[in-house]
Amino acid sequence: MADAQLLAEWFPDFEPKAPKMRGESVFYRNLEEQLDVRRNDRTLFTLRRNEPAPKSIDVSTLDFLGLTHSALLRQPFLDELASHPDFHLGAGGSRLLNGNNAYAELVEREIADFHVADEALLFHSGFEANVALMLAIPRPGDAIVFDELVHASMHEGMQGSVAPCKKSFKHNDVDKFREVLMEVRETQTLIKKGQRSVFIALESLYSMDGDVSPLRELVEVAKEIFPEGNAQFFVDEAHTTGVFGKQGRGYVDELGLHNEIAIRMHTFGKAMACTGAVVLCKSSVRDTLMNHARAFLYSTAPSFPMLAAIRAGYKLLKSGQTQPLQDHIQQLVKHFFRTLQENPVWDEASDEGILSIPTMEDFENRPFVTQVCPIVTRQRYTRYLCWHLQLAGYNCFPIDYPVVPRGMNRLRVVLHAHNTVAEVEGFAEAICEWAQEMLNIEERGNKGELPTAARRVIASQAELKANGRVRGEENGHVNGYENGAVNGNGVVNGH
Ligand SMILES: Cc1ncc(COP(=O)(O)O)c(C=O)c1O
Repeated sequence: MADAQLLAEWFPDFEPKAPKMRGESVFYRNLEEQLDVRRNDRTLFTLRRNEPAPKSIDVSTLDFLGLTHSALLRQPFLDELASHPDFHLGAGGSRLLNGNNAYAELVEREIADFHVADEALLFHSGFEANVALMLAIPRPGDAIVFDELVHASMHEGMQGSVAPCKKSFKHNDVDKFREVLMEVRETQTLIKKGQRSVFIALESLYSMDGDVSPLRELVEVAKEIFPEGNAQFFVDEAHTTGVFGKQGRGYVDELGLHNEIAIRMHTFGKAMACTGAVVLCKSSVRDTLMNHARAFLYSTAPSFPMLAAIRAGYKLLKSGQTQPLQDHIQQLVKHFFRTLQENPVWDEASDEGILSIPTMEDFENRPFVTQVCPIVTRQRYTRYLCWHLQLAGYNCFPIDYPVVPRGMNRLRVVLHAHNTVAEVEGFAEAICEWAQEMLNIEERGNKGELPTAARRVIASQAELKANGRVRGEENGHVNGYENGAVNGNGVVNGH
């Protein structure tokens, strides 16, 4: 469980560094100046130590099925190693030179068959796969149409893409998607004539908002506007691999749309508790990636342990043993929502704008829920909520700018196969307890009054500062949170 001191260390308050670096190399000064922007914004990333807090309950990792720490996957992985006692540890080169081997091809074949795809091509990570796809697949004269919330890796790839026309559409908005497609058709003559293509990039589950793509509707619209088939879809399944579809085959499988989606990208770092990614596609796409994706061409092939872990993960999915884990997540999320709704505080807190979970809307009538539940509160409250929950023993973190747009921070909660009903009930209770405290504070109208957990963390920050012990203190930092110091009543001045 986190204590106030640990939280004070996790959320330090840095002072700018560059102004104190006169006389030092401009090389480092300029880097620090850039970092100072983040320091001033309170958006500087640092690596947290001791995370998660000992004995805390996991409500935030992307280890959806709990396989990182489970013998369920460890054993087949060890079996895989044992059945290849002479394995070569490293690949020894890129796939196109010395790094290819029968085992890598076998793993790809098995993955393609499992997902009912023609071909599979492995990458070291989902980030690399996305960059490779965005760079290599759209050709000159093509257009890329993408949901505005697609992952940073797709944006990274798009920046270097030769496709001259790149257009986003409002997140998950089918009408806006239609408008953008129509605009592309009307402004791009070769595309209209069916001589060039539209590459549509989406995610199956958007990990910051926790909602799924209205894929079926989007496919229908694309077919209607481009009946000749020159609009094709690419779906990133990073957050649905292992969690949706039969035995974890993914969201496209859940919707039965295999034949409609040209490219699927599954990653192995989340539910599969491993690393790497795979692109599922037809041979034209695979061959293009092998010839034009520099991340594939100029990178050493995956090592044997990586391939063995991926294969073990797929053997586990195929065995059916993860299906109950998927089902448990569904039940757990619904139970979480119901428990919140039944709490006497919930209605008032949501009416007052203190608590909302957008993915809860109408959840009883939806065919499935997702494991990602973003909790939205007033922007300045997000940390207070996080601190309250951390002190209550739940390991969760706010997601801030630049990961989400300014003014849209949230606490991203993820429920897992390894969470229990009792944990989820306790978690819902802790959330509502905090909401009640905030309602009381707002009712008192004492400007600057802080909730208990925030008072404790801020007091701890001040204490650490006084002792010169806060990480980053060597850089000269730490004020009370929100530009002030805590007074005896736990009120932040300047809040
Ligand atoms: C939607 C999405 N795509 C791709 C990636 C990158 O995958 P990887 O972690 O394998 O690099 C991530 C996150 O990590 C993601 O959330």
